[in-house]
Amino acid sequence: MSFEPKIIAFLCNWCSYRGADLAGISRMKCAPNVRPIRVMCSGRVEPDFVLKAFEAGADGVLILGCHSGDCHYVEGNYKTIRRIALLKKMLSQLGIEDERLRLEWVSASEGARFVSITNEMTEQVRKLGPFSHRNGGSNG
Ligand code: FES
Repeated sequence: MSFEPKIIAFLCNWCSYRGADLAGISRMKCAPNVRPIRVMCSGRVEPDFVLKAFEAGADGVLILGCHSGDCHYVEGNYKTIRRIALLKKMLSQLGIEDERLRLEWVSASEGARFVSITNEMTEQVRKLGPFSHRNGGSNG
């Protein structure tokens, strides 16, 4: 039986959540592996949320926010860029593969982009195999 990764996706309410909604309304084919969590802004996603998602059994974490210049809280997504860069460094020191955490921008009109990112992420994490925090993030 093939491994089906669990992906937690934090979606910003104003753009990415609506993009995901558009994909659904338009009946676009999307991998069923993504569990969406709506947040008001990508800048609301604390590093702790990501760590807790992995701890709770996620094999990958996706953060989707508004494109540059479109954040409804002006600089929320710029904060996210800095935060995720630091978090990725920390995860790599813990032996967690870089590809398990991804930050992307999806607008309300980009249903197709939402589908392509989530499908791509699902495939990428499927190739990595299940995440196990018990052995420092390596497969098994
Ligand atoms: S409101 Fe969407 S990233 Fe800030």
